[in-house]
Amino acid sequence: MSLDQLTIHNVRNLRELRLEAFERTNVIYGANGSGKTSILEAIHLLGMARSFRGTSAKTLISHGEAACVVHGVGTLSSGRGRYSLGVERRLNGELSLKINGEAARTIAELVERLPVQVINADSFSLLTGAPQARRHFLNWGVFHVEHRFFPEWQRFQRCIKQRNSSLRRGKLAGQELQAWTRELARSGSMINEYRQAYFNDLAPLFREIVGRLLPQIGSLELRLRQGWDKRLSYSEALEATLNSDQEKGFTQLGPQRADLKVMVDGHAAADTLSRGQQKLVVCGLKLAQGRLMRALASRSCIYLVDDLPSELDQAHSRRVCDELEAIQAQVFITCVERNDVLRVWPNKGEKLAVFHVEHGLVESELEQSSAPQLQGNNRESQSSHE
Ligand SMILES: Nc1ncnc2c1ncn2[C@@H]1O[C@H](COP(=O)(O)OP(=O)(O)OP(=O)(O)O)[C@@H](O)[C@H]1O
Ligand SMILES: [Mg+2]
Repeated sequence: MSLDQLTIHNVRNLRELRLEAFERTNVIYGANGSGKTSILEAIHLLGMARSFRGTSAKTLISHGEAACVVHGVGTLSSGRGRYSLGVERRLNGELSLKINGEAARTIAELVERLPVQVINADSFSLLTGAPQARRHFLNWGVFHVEHRFFPEWQRFQRCIKQRNSSLRRGKLAGQELQAWTRELARSGSMINEYRQAYFNDLAPLFREIVGRLLPQIGSLELRLRQGWDKRLSYSEALEATLNSDQEKGFTQLGPQRADLKVMVDGHAAADTLSRGQQKLVVCGLKLAQGRLMRALASRSCIYLVDDLPSELDQAHSRRVCDELEAIQAQVFITCVERNDVLRVWPNKGEKLAVFHVEHGLVESELEQSSAPQLQGNNRESQSSHE
């Protein structure tokens, strides 16, 4: 799964941009405000139909325009052919998705085709922020390796909505409540099983990767809280909280309350690690997902790495780059100065594509890794695309 070319229309300051000749590793550099993050956002839009900046479509669309459009052409893993994706977001909230020229109905179809992972200056918030982001992280991973997960997840969402509505209707909903509780217990247990199986594979990979990124860190543990007392079946837990659920009018326990926790020497990583260490732990989580996806589904995700040096010293940036390189996934990585990434990217003789962004326009160059120290390297400069 890799992206070969990208056309961007009206994403922030990128009015009309065509990028091509991507390599496995793509370095995007330029001054503050030039449009680097916007390029990553455009790729994210193509894979997730939304930005990773958590802002509405309104702020993503260039000022004064009614819509933004991103179109991408890529190659499927192990040479299984080419694909094209298109996403249009309009100011009025409309969203249209195309896969190989045909209209797609759901965002999940897009997500399945172009799995993207973001590592940026906000990444630490996966540890320190609300559990919803960690559930999303977990679901994303399971979605890509277990094809039964998504339909079950949709069933689970439907069941919990119906059960909550029955709970709010009180005694009137007696039999209906029983039926939805049974169905929710079944579906929630399946979701939990898929997550547990995924977690069991993820945890050792995570520990291994963080062990390389942060060798001094101490004893590291990744925990999964399933969302109810693990000594009980989900059905038993629902039974035990039935009265209280009825009083409150919603289902208190279940996979919708699951959470992941990282512990270091018995303390929560979110409370004890430095900002840079937190970023590295989150990198460990995201890199472990990429590895697992490759191992279990023979597919790879695309890493969008924004401003790697923020919070990281050179030695740790280098370790993250080593891991990214080893995963053999396609990487788009931004920095301000051309050499910020090139000086820490591993020298494996691989060609890197380098793009210089200026005021929303891009010039592309090719570079052999690892550049700055090897002045004599071949350096073909390609003509500007804009
Ligand atoms: N909706 C919009 N319409 C037009 N321009 C916008 C819009 N939203 C943001 N911009 C501008 O787009 C430019 C590019 O922003 P972007 O965040 O991509 O820059 P960057 O190269 O990542 O900068 P930095 O190095 O500071 O992170 C900025 O000048 C910003 O003010
Ligand atoms: Mg930026």
